[in-house]
Amino acid sequence: MFQAIHETVQYIKQKIADFDPEIGIVLGTGLGGLVTEMTIEHSLMYANIPNFPISTLEFHSGKLLFGTLNGKKVVAMQGRLHYYEGYSMQQITFPIRVLKALGIKHLFVSNAAGSLNPEFKKGDLMVICDHINLLPESPLRGRNDEDMGPRFPDMSQPYHHQLIESALAIAAKEDIRCHKGVYVAVTGPNLETKAEYKYLRIIGGDAVGMSTVPEVIVAKHMSIPVFAISVLTDEGFPEVLLPVSLEEIIETARIAEPKMTQILSQLIATL
Ligand code: HPA
Repeated sequence: MFQAIHETVQYIKQKIADFDPEIGIVLGTGLGGLVTEMTIEHSLMYANIPNFPISTLEFHSGKLLFGTLNGKKVVAMQGRLHYYEGYSMQQITFPIRVLKALGIKHLFVSNAAGSLNPEFKKGDLMVICDHINLLPESPLRGRNDEDMGPRFPDMSQPYHHQLIESALAIAAKEDIRCHKGVYVAVTGPNLETKAEYKYLRIIGGDAVGMSTVPEVIVAKHMSIPVFAISVLTDEGFPEVLLPVSLEEIIETARIAEPKMTQILSQLIATL
């Protein structure tokens, strides 16, 4: 993997000249709007980057964008990879290894998720303070490269405490409904049954989604501080569960996205 990372970084560096990103951002489903706030200096299609997995979802445009956001140099992944698309965990998290090699000091992650907590409504935001990983394997499975990180990385505080508090303070100031909660990662691509939503709530989840946790584990492996936020796009409340379509999920994400962008962009300015 070291060789692949090196090759990819060489390619990217030659395209972006001396641009040194400080912050990496992974944008979730329907949440690409943050890039309109960026002053973009370089845009690379995933398809043209050596060793980069290509998103199989048409609604993910698959670009790596370099630019400034609120005065900070950032690199944003517009379009992420999911386990349900058929990639290995190593493929999904390869871009995070590349971002680290490009020099990022913080990672920001967004996603669309279903609410499990009856107090958290569709369209609200949730800052992730902890997670439960129900994905079938860890991205760290296999031989460990000690130069990248430890064999058994600590997970006692995967999400940066100060960034969580700052995000909640920004949300309160801006009058944005934003909670703090536990994200459960599942494989998908099917959504959950009533019994599954009930189970996920019982085991301690506030929201459920199909991403984020692999990237967070790999970032923690490399000691990168992480902030993650969910847009709650549907309500997985078993007693009153309604059918939900991808179109509705994307539409809710689109409507709630400016609130998330506001929080992320103000939060990034505090670094
Ligand atoms: N379940 C799993 N993933 C999701 C959901 C959900 O209800 N909503 C958005 N992503």
